[in-house]
Amino acid sequence: MTTHDAIVLGAGGAGLMAAAIAGQGGARVLVIDHAPKPGKKILISGGGRCNFTNTGCEPANFLSENPHFAKSALNRYTQWDFLALIEAHGIAWHEKTLGQLFCDGSARAVVAMLLEECAKGGVEIRLETAIGEIGHGDGLFRVAGAVAPALVIATGGPSIPKMGATGVAYDIARRFGLAVVPPRPALVPLTLSETERLELSGVAVPAVAEAGGARFAEAALFTHRGLSGPAVLQVSSYWRPGEAVVLELLADAGRLLREARARMPRAGLKAALAEHLPNRLAEALAARIGIARELGNTPDAELDRAAGMLGALTFHPTGTEGYAKAEVTAGGIATDALSSKTMEARAVSGLYAIGEAVDVTGWLGGYNFQWAWSSGWAAGVAL
Ligand code: FDA
Repeated sequence: MTTHDAIVLGAGGAGLMAAAIAGQGGARVLVIDHAPKPGKKILISGGGRCNFTNTGCEPANFLSENPHFAKSALNRYTQWDFLALIEAHGIAWHEKTLGQLFCDGSARAVVAMLLEECAKGGVEIRLETAIGEIGHGDGLFRVAGAVAPALVIATGGPSIPKMGATGVAYDIARRFGLAVVPPRPALVPLTLSETERLELSGVAVPAVAEAGGARFAEAALFTHRGLSGPAVLQVSSYWRPGEAVVLELLADAGRLLREARARMPRAGLKAALAEHLPNRLAEALAARIGIARELGNTPDAELDRAAGMLGALTFHPTGTEGYAKAEVTAGGIATDALSSKTMEARAVSGLYAIGEAVDVTGWLGGYNFQWAWSSGWAAGVAL
């Protein structure tokens, strides 16, 4: 048995941040991970450039059974604090859109930065190490040949199992009596039945997507299985089975169609739509709306029906593409069980949970990493 002040399970963004901060605060920290290298999700994130935070990050950008829980950590370690760390390490960055900050170069720089911060704190990292049984007695946690009075669950969620992601966080939480909000795939493409699917694989269009009371204006993408693209991924986190997803493709369709009818009365609906939408989409929508006659012969009521569909194209997803394609897992270790200041379990002294393992899920756009950094930092200073 090796002896430590804290054992962190998971060498992802949250675990490495917690370990670095705790180590720099004087704790002897051990990080355990079953993967052959640390920070694998950081490496593949943001198309390899890691969308590491968002300038507009605030608690309203997160889903949780308790929307107040994330406030403390997000306010104490902000996007600006993480950006300062990025700059202190000389990592060049840029803002893409909607406040999303990316590395100019490779995401590897972010992992290297976290490892350097861990090294400064004398953190030991054991890779390719299985967690196995966790012992707990006399105020000490025993895991994988190590013992410590503090144990941090930072093993993320089961999204992208191919990369070694598991739901072990929930098993550990339950073993210690902590409740788990049922996990579900989030930021995930939605599937449609054959009848609802538009055979437009690869066509992207600016849209407002709406589901579960949330609305996002970004690109929507038609896929061979259903719907994707940032706007749809965003609402997928709010969508629940049985609910509809509505796409607003043309906000002002009534006026646009009347104007087209006056200008080109011999044209059909497809030609009018193709002035504003990709050609293949215009064709598929015209077929779905089913107005065969020339615009000049189309009465107001028919144009209004077409405008209604274009302003609120309604789909009834059959499901999601699941954890295999989900960027994150929503739900997770119930926040009720944790202190929002330290992330320590209220009922189990020395047990902490951080990052994606917890029931806090960010929007697309750097928010999930910010939660990993903020919650990791909060636990790190408390360890
Ligand atoms: P994370 O999953 O990163 O780390 C958990 C660690 O625990 C891993 O190292 C894993 O190997 C280890 N582990 C798991 N099970 C274990 C077990 N049974 N035994 C031992 N070790 C175990 N977010 C964002 O803000 N900006 C972005 O650009 C992206 N891009 C992105 C792309 C893709 C493809 C995905 C899948 C996800 C993103 N995300 C993202 C989401 C982001 O990657 C995610 O929310 C954070 O990595 C979560 O950090 P954690 O440290 O909590 O878990």
